[in-house]
Amino acid sequence: MTPDDSAAFAPSADDVRRVLTDARRFLVQQRDLFGNVLPVGDSRPAAPADPPPTAATAYGEGPLPQAAPTAPTGDPADPYRGGPTKTAAGEVIVPPEIAAATDLPMLYGQINGCLKCPLGATRKHVVFGVGDPKTRLLVIGEAPGADEDERGEPFVGRSGMLLTKMLAAVNFSREDVYIANIVKCRPPNNRDPHADEVDTCQGYLRRQIALIDPPFILVLGKVAANTILGRNDSMMKLRESAGAHEFHGIRVFVTYHPAALLRNEAWKRPAWEDLKALRRAYDA
Ligand code: URA
Repeated sequence: MTPDDSAAFAPSADDVRRVLTDARRFLVQQRDLFGNVLPVGDSRPAAPADPPPTAATAYGEGPLPQAAPTAPTGDPADPYRGGPTKTAAGEVIVPPEIAAATDLPMLYGQINGCLKCPLGATRKHVVFGVGDPKTRLLVIGEAPGADEDERGEPFVGRSGMLLTKMLAAVNFSREDVYIANIVKCRPPNNRDPHADEVDTCQGYLRRQIALIDPPFILVLGKVAANTILGRNDSMMKLRESAGAHEFHGIRVFVTYHPAALLRNEAWKRPAWEDLKALRRAYDA
């Protein structure tokens, strides 16, 4: 190639401007979705101060958080303290190394071995998730139990068997969907995960959702639903607006956790209605 030939392939000033504009738009969109983990400038004027956290801002529906996350502190006196999990405005922080994961195996590699909350000390396996990474339906439960901790796979115990049947009842197989949990490690004695444990795991789940990018999420039970939706409501209230919930543009359906259905048969009928509503929306 002569110098003249190579000049013909040199990008014009317009090409460069277009690429930079596209890159900037992409980064701003990522920040809007997953928090201010990248140092992206913004032509919008900075907010004068962080707004107080509200249920709406905590899950990204309100004004953009302006506060940059601080780096994890890694306090040697407390090996479980992984640093802040939310901005002052209550927005979930996705740590930079987690935001950098470009596929699920890479993300798993990043979080396997996590000791950022006390659950790391008692778990056998990080229960990351299983299923089709390109699925249109992500199912989110609460936390692994003993069977899941043993096998490193979500929903493989009694609740899992019921979940498999619930999905099959509306024509989904486990292989069609992706199944994950709000927290990746088993809480001892199957207690509910504590708020700090949930918060610590949220950056991981955020990235997992972003990588799968499904149009539909089915959340199982009150803890999972309130975490995803940034609310603090009863199951009755959460189910009332079935299908009208949204998480960053993803339609969210809420139903009873299979473990609750094993305890209370009377909830099986309303759960069936929830699943049929999901199936109708999915097929529409
Ligand atoms: N319950 C859950 O919420 N998740 C599991 O993986 C198993 C039981």
